[in-house]
Amino acid sequence: MKYFRKIMRCYFFTFVGLCRSIGMTAPKSNKKSRMSHIFSVIDGQELERQRLSRELHDGIGQSMVAIKMKLESLGYIPEPEIKPQLEGIRRQFDQIIDEIRRITTDLMPPVLEEFGLVIALFNLCEDTGKHSSVKIRFEHNVSTNDWNRKIQTYLYRIVQEALNNIIKHSNADQSFVKLMYDHDFIYLSIQDNGKGFRPHDTGREGGHGLHNMQERVKLLGGTLDLKTASGKGTLIQIKVPRF
Ligand SMILES: Nc1ncnc2c1ncn2[C@@H]1O[C@H](COP(=O)(O)OP(=O)(O)OP(=O)(O)O)[C@@H](O)[C@H]1O
Ligand SMILES: [Mg+2]
Repeated sequence: MKYFRKIMRCYFFTFVGLCRSIGMTAPKSNKKSRMSHIFSVIDGQELERQRLSRELHDGIGQSMVAIKMKLESLGYIPEPEIKPQLEGIRRQFDQIIDEIRRITTDLMPPVLEEFGLVIALFNLCEDTGKHSSVKIRFEHNVSTNDWNRKIQTYLYRIVQEALNNIIKHSNADQSFVKLMYDHDFIYLSIQDNGKGFRPHDTGREGGHGLHNMQERVKLLGGTLDLKTASGKGTLIQIKVPRF
């Protein structure tokens, strides 16, 4: 009985600890917002997993099955026909390598890993500008490359989404990306001179981009300020602590 009580106490405290960690014992409004925060992060991760799973299944998975079938059939075909078959398989492998490169670049752009955020943003702005009718200017005062990887990846993803939104929705012809920092904070802003929108009209069913942006900033312990109005363009201002 003594041991049983001990075990129950142990379970009870673990349960209370768990509840605290997800905010179940916090005041009601706090609890609600923390729960919704946790769920939206999980939602975001789930969507990313689903996307990855689709890419792997439909792209690489299908090509690998085709290659396996071709390899299995090699034993049954006459010798002179083997060479072109092997050439086909080689070509298919090349395609798979390209596909893997595309998916991994999407997850973590190599330029970000190798050269850091500033060069990666410079390339992103230039590349996006070249493939659209929006002129994108990039300005920064950054002379360091030692921000942690999470900050760099999240800020990169935010700019990527903001630029995609500008191209998809804004009808802008000018956009301005600015990355500044001081001793304590990093300041990122993305502005366009497009048609603007009413942020409250954009429920979750409208898309995930803005919502994910906000989640990323929250996870970095920062703030996001969205200024936009019909016909007045859009300005996104982000401030995150450096450490
Ligand atoms: N720069 C912008 N200019 C004009 N409208 C914008 C801009 N950014 C966002 N919007 C509006 O806000 C909505 C929500 O944007 P959000 O990025 O969340 O979703 P989405 O781009 O529609 O879809 P997703 O990002 O999930 O592919 C857009 O559908 C668009 O109406
Ligand atoms: Mg979007």
